[in-house]
Amino acid sequence: MTDFTTFGQQQRPQFEAYLEQALAYQLEEPTLKKAMQYSVMAGGKRLRPLLLFAVLESAKLPIDLNAMRVAGALELVHSYSLIHDDLPAMDNDDLRRGRPTNHKVFGEAQAILAGDGLLTLAFDWLTTTNLPADKQVQLVRILAQAAGANGMVAGQVEDIEGQTKQLRLAQLKQLHHLKTGCLIEAAVEMGALLADLNPIQKAALLTFAKYYGLAFQIQDDILDVTSTAAVMGKAVHKDAIEQKNTFPGLLGLAGAQAELEQTCQQAQQALQSLIGLDQTLLNSFLSYFDEQENK
Ligand code: IPE
Ligand code: IPE
Ligand code: MG
Ligand code: MG
Ligand code: MG
Repeated sequence: MTDFTTFGQQQRPQFEAYLEQALAYQLEEPTLKKAMQYSVMAGGKRLRPLLLFAVLESAKLPIDLNAMRVAGALELVHSYSLIHDDLPAMDNDDLRRGRPTNHKVFGEAQAILAGDGLLTLAFDWLTTTNLPADKQVQLVRILAQAAGANGMVAGQVEDIEGQTKQLRLAQLKQLHHLKTGCLIEAAVEMGALLADLNPIQKAALLTFAKYYGLAFQIQDDILDVTSTAAVMGKAVHKDAIEQKNTFPGLLGLAGAQAELEQTCQQAQQALQSLIGLDQTLLNSFLSYFDEQENK
């Protein structure tokens, strides 16, 4: 029986190798290539690709080159979002994935362009698999909607606007859903599409992903308060300084932890209604939220 930790250890090396080789092969302009590779190949948990792979695994399907490329597209979009999120005009961070942020190394202009390059390359990859054309179009649509103006980008806008006001709980949940949840949901939805799951299975998985994505950003907020830069590979204790709307900020640390626990239970319940798939692996993804593993 594979669990989250083992699955990650098994899958990461070949996924990293895929990313490395695909970027090296495709990118031409030397400065841009270096800047894009710098952030994508800086490590990171690869959680969104792993979620997509886990959906395939739960349907007992192989993690083939098509899956790798689609998961790669997700990771490119995620990496772009981090480069832009760290820019001085946004969260103004100097450390990411244990390294100086992209703009610290390449300058702001090149960092913006590296992000632009990653975002657009993601859609190139989605349309250069061996999948049938209709599936490629659906994948493009899922990722565009999740990452775009009604998804992650909207969330980033609300995150910035929120710095001047205190959001209520429902608004904060919506903000976290947009800025982080949408891409996590897209990972699961793209996995479900690749696996040809039926609408009932898909609905249960999307409910799982909705709560998982929310839990993920609640945990990120909590770790900003409780963890260290050495463990996180990024600055901590920044959210309060930047007057971000966060779960610990609104509910206190204990309140945020209770909300996290409840959200994890909701994710788990969604999996229980999943018929015809092995839920064990996806269920074990909830162990990411065990505090010991993240401190
Ligand atoms: C960080 O995402 C940004 C958020 C959405 C909270 P991750 O925590 O997945 O970052 P990496 O990919 O592991 O660096
Ligand atoms: C990041 O949220 C969300 C996106 C990048 C879309 P945060 O700003 O909380 O992420 P970290 O804490 O910098 O990783
Ligand atoms: Mg941010
Ligand atoms: Mg940030
Ligand atoms: Mg954060």
